[in-house]
Amino acid sequence: MVIPCRLPLAPPPLAVPVLSPEQRRKLDESSDALFYAQPRFVQHLDGAFRQRLTALYRERLAPGTTVLDLMSSWVSHLPPDLSFHAVLGHGMNAAELEANPRLSRHWVQNLNEEQTLPLEPSSVDAALIVAGWQYLQQPEAVAVELLRVLRPGGQLIVAFSNRMFATKAPQAWLEGSDRDRLSGVAKVLLCQGWELDQLLSEDTTAAGPLGWIGGKGDPFFAVIARKPAGRGHG
Ligand SMILES: C[S@@+](CC[C@H](N)C(=O)[O-])C[C@H]1O[C@@H](n2cnc3c(N)ncnc32)[C@H](O)[C@@H]1O
Repeated sequence: MVIPCRLPLAPPPLAVPVLSPEQRRKLDESSDALFYAQPRFVQHLDGAFRQRLTALYRERLAPGTTVLDLMSSWVSHLPPDLSFHAVLGHGMNAAELEANPRLSRHWVQNLNEEQTLPLEPSSVDAALIVAGWQYLQQPEAVAVELLRVLRPGGQLIVAFSNRMFATKAPQAWLEGSDRDRLSGVAKVLLCQGWELDQLLSEDTTAAGPLGWIGGKGDPFFAVIARKPAGRGHG
C-alpha cells in the first residue's frame, strides 16, 4: 500500500544549522531522482554488517510497535521472527519498496528537496536509517521532522559503514573520517533536541572483496538517539 503524500498543515519548526553551505555540496548536483530512477536489487552492506544490524534491532526494537524505515530499499534488515504493528517504508525507488516484504506501506520522497514527512506527530515508536544519512544535504531539517513524528521516548537508530555512492554524498561526509561522521551525526541530532543514547563504532573481522590481500569488510557504526520523554507531541 502506498501512503498518499499528505503533508501536515503546519510547517516544521526551524532547524538549527550545523553544516555550512559548502559542506552540503555534492559532486553530482543533478536531482537524486535521476540517480535512483532504476531499482538496485543489491545488498549495500556485507553479511557481517547486516547480521550485526539485525542483532541490534533484536535488542532494541519491541514487537508490536510502529517502526519507520526511512531511506529504505528492498530490504529492512529486521529480525525475521519479530512482528510489528506496522513498518512504514520510505525511499527513492518505488519498485524497491514494493519488493520489500517487511513494509506495511511506503512512499517515495526526495529528502534533499522536501523534508516534511507525511506522518502524524508522535505516530512512530522507532525510526531507522541504514546507509542513508550520508546522502542528506539537509540532515538538520530531517532530524527535526523525525523528532516530530516519533513518540516521546521513541528511539532513532542511524547505522552506516564507510562505503557510499561518492558523487551523491555531501562534502561533510565525503571528506570526513569515520570518527567525524559518527560525531557529525550525533551533533546534528543533539542540536535539534535529541538525547544521545549510544554510539557504536565496531571494527569487523570479516574479510572484504580484497580479503586475499588483507582487505577488511564493512565496519559498523551507529548513532542511537531518543526523543526526550518530556518533549510532548511537537
Ligand atoms: C545505500 S542505499 C541504502 C538502502 C537501505 N537502507 C539498505 O539498507 O539497503 C541508500 C538509500 O538512501 C535513500 N536516499 C538516497 N538519497 C536520498 C534522497 N535524496 N532522499 C531520500 N532518500 C534518499 C534511498 O532510499 C537509497 O536507497
